[in-house]
Amino acid sequence: MTATIRLKALAILVALTAISCTGTGTNDTDTQVTITVNAGIEGPEISPDLYGLFFEEINHAGDGGLYAELIRNRDFEASSIPEGMRVEGHYIVNSNGWKQEYEIPFAHWGWALIEDKGSNGIIRPESSNPVSASNPNYLRMTINKPKNSRVGLANGGYWGIAIEKGASYRVSFYARCDEVFDGNLTVSLESEDGTVYGINNVEGVSEEWQQFESTITVAFSDPKARFVIAGKVKGTVWFDMISLFPSETFKNRPNGMRKDLAEKLEALKPSFFRFPGGCVVEGASLENRFQWKKTIGPLTERPGHWNLWNYHWTDGMGYHEYLQFCEDLNAAPMYICNVGLSCQARGGEIAPEDALESYIQDVLDAIEYANGPVSSKWGAERASNGHPKPFDMKYLGIGNENHGPVYHENYQKFMAAIKAVYPDMLTIACENHPDMGAIEIIDEHYYMPPHFFYENASRYDSYDRNGPKIFVGEYACHGPVGNGNLLAAVAEAAFMTGMERNSDVVVMAAYAPLLVNVNDRKWNPDLIGFDSASSYGTPSYYVQQMFAANKPDIILKTTVEMPAQESNADIRHGRIGLSTYEASAEFADIEVTKDGEVLFSDDFTEDNGCWQTYNGNWGVKDGVYAQDGDGQNTFSFTGDLSWTDYTLTCRARKTGGREGFMLAVYGKDNHNNIRWNVGGWGNTRHAVQFLYEGNFLEYGTGVAGSVETGRWYDVKVEVKGDSIKCYLDGELIHDVTITDPAEPEVYAVSGRSRETNEIIIKVVNATSSAQSASVNITGSDKIEKEGTVTVLSSPDPTDENSIEEPTKVSPKTETIKAFGTEFTHSFPANSVTVFRLREKE
Ligand code: AHR
Repeated sequence: MTATIRLKALAILVALTAISCTGTGTNDTDTQVTITVNAGIEGPEISPDLYGLFFEEINHAGDGGLYAELIRNRDFEASSIPEGMRVEGHYIVNSNGWKQEYEIPFAHWGWALIEDKGSNGIIRPESSNPVSASNPNYLRMTINKPKNSRVGLANGGYWGIAIEKGASYRVSFYARCDEVFDGNLTVSLESEDGTVYGINNVEGVSEEWQQFESTITVAFSDPKARFVIAGKVKGTVWFDMISLFPSETFKNRPNGMRKDLAEKLEALKPSFFRFPGGCVVEGASLENRFQWKKTIGPLTERPGHWNLWNYHWTDGMGYHEYLQFCEDLNAAPMYICNVGLSCQARGGEIAPEDALESYIQDVLDAIEYANGPVSSKWGAERASNGHPKPFDMKYLGIGNENHGPVYHENYQKFMAAIKAVYPDMLTIACENHPDMGAIEIIDEHYYMPPHFFYENASRYDSYDRNGPKIFVGEYACHGPVGNGNLLAAVAEAAFMTGMERNSDVVVMAAYAPLLVNVNDRKWNPDLIGFDSASSYGTPSYYVQQMFAANKPDIILKTTVEMPAQESNADIRHGRIGLSTYEASAEFADIEVTKDGEVLFSDDFTEDNGCWQTYNGNWGVKDGVYAQDGDGQNTFSFTGDLSWTDYTLTCRARKTGGREGFMLAVYGKDNHNNIRWNVGGWGNTRHAVQFLYEGNFLEYGTGVAGSVETGRWYDVKVEVKGDSIKCYLDGELIHDVTITDPAEPEVYAVSGRSRETNEIIIKVVNATSSAQSASVNITGSDKIEKEGTVTVLSSPDPTDENSIEEPTKVSPKTETIKAFGTEFTHSFPANSVTVFRLREKE
């Protein structure tokens, strides 16, 4: 490898002089890295809101997680059909034909009948006489033969109810009974097999619905306890809204948050809290979108709804609770509203024009609820829900991951209406398009492989300083990173150095998703894992914490010099391929040529067995090669891995489904190739995608476009050296350049904390070897010898934390007396290091 020295920023370096060793890390490479901090050259002020949180009800983040309710399906509404959708066999389908596998849960999902010692009873759902019409389903329990022992309902919560010795739990439920039943019930917490840990009697159940409350104190700890409500005599009892909360919640709010999880969030010192999503803002149908007005007020009045991550959502943690939680976290509320579009990745229903006014009014009402005076309609509603003081909502997101012409038009209408009434509300747009008019902040999302984060550590260096600000509203390192390992955390940290350095542009950022109940991972990785009893932060959690806790006020000019890291990727040769995504398509007359010579051709008169398929339903018939399944990322490859610099031509047509068709070049397999996506993104866009080790990156930003079903297109892809040219019916659509995936390096950012008089330097060694570096602080002779160094690392980059080993990868801090203006330091492989160095007064 040639050791060319590369300057990563435009600073003039001073010569190195005295060197001392701080002693952390191993010194197993020569000092080839120089980090220079110019304490005399201040850069941008760092946004006070740079590091915040993104919360979405996904992975049981709320129900079965942060929301401290311990009973699963307390409202018996789990079997409601997803709003605005129909059930077809084992699928739910929206009005645009988007579908997802679905099993209708039974109404008493989470509940089991218990019949002690030969007693006998029966349960069944009913809805003719509910506590509240907005929450129509409830459960009937008939005790036929009590035999002097109990018949009851047991609920094991969300994969167990965790109880702690000496703690108390608040029970609340609605019940009524027939004239036969004696009105007496017991409520208890017990082991899975019935050992009672704490029990109370409840008397006075009558023929009218009444709410009953009771507090159970338990004498044992058990992470997998169950709750039981039972009777001992003949008769029928009806139940609804059976709830159990720990008496102690975060800040002791009733209907509040689980303490350990909330404290983990608080420890991240979030400056803002984005809610309620995510895709849930949009819904799988418009009817299924998050509708805040249905999530406030008495719990019995909240219908709950189907969560598009595929479970029942009580909305117990509703709009008011989100705002209250922001206040309790001391984080600025950021509400994301629906803009008259359901999730565009799920078919995207569009609200009719005459309905849009009501969507806009809904947002204005939401802001009034959060910020209006008690004399206003929704301010009064807030006061009646227990919070007369406004919540001071600061940010409003106009849509989530929305795009395209309808979004551009709707955005303008929302923006105009919001700014007319609330000129100071800071608004966030999903994209930046000339048709959108004024944009204050743009929300960028990145779920990308490690090399994306290395490459984009300098992304924001070149952003327009006069353009809109950036909110990196969702990001996380994906790919071969387990459930969120050290490698992922270090890649994110590399990217974060760039966000912090450019915090005049990047004003906010949030990792996503935040929480996962490890019993039901809908999305991976996530920042914090938990089960009923315990929780842990992933290595990424500690990176977030290290950056937030060590956020300076102002950036100092910082450079890293190190030998250029050469790419190991070998991507400029390979087979040709055909591909589809949620669509069926046919391909014909395939030819691959190189310098006038035909390397391969297939007219599909017969199946010659030379195609290797991955997913999908591929077959040769009548001179075409057809893929007639509707799966995602189907592929079929042929040719030779050594092929390079060739031209692929064929005819292709879409025969059904949501998207168009795709051609691949330089293909190794379905995880490594370069793919031209024609009519992707719901048949709205063409783009060249680089699929590397299972992760997509786009070359360029793509162009708007679609394909007609049934129409044959002539398609051509030319690859030569680093150039890829794509033609549709003879028209050049893309002319893009292949780039190697970035190799990891050493990244650094530094700043001054005026409040504490410290220089804070963050160094990310994303390489797989320890790097010994000279660290020079120029422009100040006041750096004290004593300072602290905090390091996050672990022997293996694949190391992770878990319920069993919650802090296997966690930062260690030590005080060192060998700093000053020049020192050497060995940065462990795959590590994130933060120095805090005091400047003498
Ligand atoms: O964070 C998970 C999902 O990712 C969010 O709901 C959505 O905004 C994005 O696609």
